[in-house]
Amino acid sequence: MDSAPPSPAPSTAIAFRDLPDTDLDRALDLVYLAFHETPEDEKRKHHHDLLRGCERVGAYDGRTLVGLLAAFRFTMSVPGGELPCPSVTFVSVAPTHRRRGVLSGMIAALFERCGASDRPLAALWASEDAIYGRFGFGPATYNNTVEVKSERPLDLRIVPSEGPLRLVDPAAAPELLAAYYDRTRAARAGRIDRTEAWWREEWMATEDEEDDDLSPPRVVVLGAADDPGRVTGYAIYRTKGRDDAPGLVRLDELEADTPQAEAALWRYLASIDLTGLIQAWGRPLDDPLLLFAGDRDQVRVTGQYPGLRVRLVDVRAALLARSWAAPADLVLEVRDPRLPGNEGRFRLTVTGAGGAAYEPTDAPADLTLDVRELGSAYLGGAPLVSFVRAGVVTEHTPGAAAALDAALATALLPHTVDTF
Ligand SMILES: CC(C)(COP(=O)(O)OP(=O)(O)OC[C@H]1O[C@@H](n2cnc3c(N)ncnc32)[C@H](O)[C@@H]1OP(=O)(O)O)[C@@H](O)C(=O)NCCC(=O)NCCS
Repeated sequence: MDSAPPSPAPSTAIAFRDLPDTDLDRALDLVYLAFHETPEDEKRKHHHDLLRGCERVGAYDGRTLVGLLAAFRFTMSVPGGELPCPSVTFVSVAPTHRRRGVLSGMIAALFERCGASDRPLAALWASEDAIYGRFGFGPATYNNTVEVKSERPLDLRIVPSEGPLRLVDPAAAPELLAAYYDRTRAARAGRIDRTEAWWREEWMATEDEEDDDLSPPRVVVLGAADDPGRVTGYAIYRTKGRDDAPGLVRLDELEADTPQAEAALWRYLASIDLTGLIQAWGRPLDDPLLLFAGDRDQVRVTGQYPGLRVRLVDVRAALLARSWAAPADLVLEVRDPRLPGNEGRFRLTVTGAGGAAYEPTDAPADLTLDVRELGSAYLGGAPLVSFVRAGVVTEHTPGAAAALDAALATALLPHTVDTF
């Protein structure tokens, strides 16, 4: 277990405070310095707009801005409901001030704000894996990268639905897709409430952020045009022709109500003329495609990576805010050097009716775990038994980890493709 003490307090010369709108340009200069970017005007304006909508902590050395941490004001689906979830982004420290506790100070400031405003969760995507575990963030969702060889028809073990497929203008897509997304979001934990601007700018941007050769987004919808309420699935993808190989379909998102609807969308993607490969970068680990594909040499998982990292800033409030899949009565000994309010031994009781309590106790612990592993497991996607097997969670009572996993389980794995 990582029980390293918190990093040293930041130099007293550095002050952590709200970053005002008047400092947004300075903040972006710092971001581009830290990430080695020279964006064009349009992209800078986009970042400016995003940052203006964020909660922001600035680190100031005298009058010089030396650190920035921003957080989107998202609401996150959690099992059985949703919670406000500051979603950390634009984290940057001036190269002159690195490893002096600036990031640590900004995160502490964010946690303090969460505590003051009853927000028990925070989340982020990490640019480097090694940075955020020490702050109590644990990977809570995972994505598969999947490739489908589509030079021949997709081999399927189920019959795809024959509902009408239609292409939708990206300008009109957000309204249609948002209705579907909002209706189904609760089924998977870890999903943010996408605003209209988020749909437009993050999902429907004409140019792809990473690959200029990709087409604008294409949106295919399953369901009759005269009944927009009956959309039963959609896919967002881009294509590109290649000189040395058949063209590529880059799949960004595919969602559908039933396996038959999913199969119809995959069959469509695999049959686009002049393409021979689908690359999907953000598929859930429990993707039905992997089971209804008739030929797993045609459909291959090429990689897996951690997605959203979750921090339980207030463990008790977070646990009491989610639903439970099975009764439990367990004493947890939680380690959280950065937020000692979470530390100690607590009895978690979940009744058959799903009501939960989490109260301090002197009883011996059934499980000892770091808050980061609790963050990983919180959405139901990271079994504690695996952490026990890896030696990073200690099980004092045989079966305790499995019992907690059963209580935390969700029907579908948590999953998101909204990176920030
Ligand atoms: C990553 C970054 C934000 C760290 O900021 P910082 O102010 O130097 O961090 P701190 O001094 O508060 O360090 C806190 C701890 O994290 C560790 N740490 C910081 N950056 C790390 C990294 N890239 N890899 C591994 N550990 C790192 C520090 O060693 C320190 O460890 P300790 O707690 O054992 O003492 C900064 O280097 C930066 O701006 N990098 C470029 C942009 C970037 O990568 N942003 C992150 C986006 S997700």
